[in-house]
Amino acid sequence: MLLRVYWSSSSTNKIAEHFPAPEEFDPSRFGNGKAAPAYSNIPFGSGPRICPGKEYARLQLMCFLHHVVTRYKWEVTNTKAKIAGGLNPVPKEGFHIRIQPYNKLA
Ligand code: HEM
Repeated sequence: MLLRVYWSSSSTNKIAEHFPAPEEFDPSRFGNGKAAPAYSNIPFGSGPRICPGKEYARLQLMCFLHHVVTRYKWEVTNTKAKIAGGLNPVPKEGFHIRIQPYNKLA
């Protein structure tokens, strides 16, 4: 019998035991001064093949999110999108959002 173990990096920070209400958007959960338990959040892999773009990606994401959250209102339009498996699961038909600049909202 062949046993396959499927691990996806995006699932590592969805363990409710370590991250209560994991589906909730709560960035403050990472700002409480406590380190998450070892190997509970490994989005960039680990060991000798750890992602070499880790710090660069984090910096880019922080800049991007800052601008997108402070300047635009987001609305997901295909909330029932099917997810395709893989190391990094992705929505099969894309992830459709409608964004509006806050300064254009009446
Ligand atoms: C949010 C962004 C990113 C995520 C979540 C991510 C995640 C990962 C993961 C999970 C791996 C596999 C690590 C392992 O096997 O243990 C990996 C490998 C790798 N990543 Fe990233 N990555 C990101 C951005 C980047 C960027 C920006 C670069 C380059 C500028 C990059 C370059 C690489 C390379 C070259 C590898 C292969 C390393 C090797 O096999 O030795 N990644 N990444």
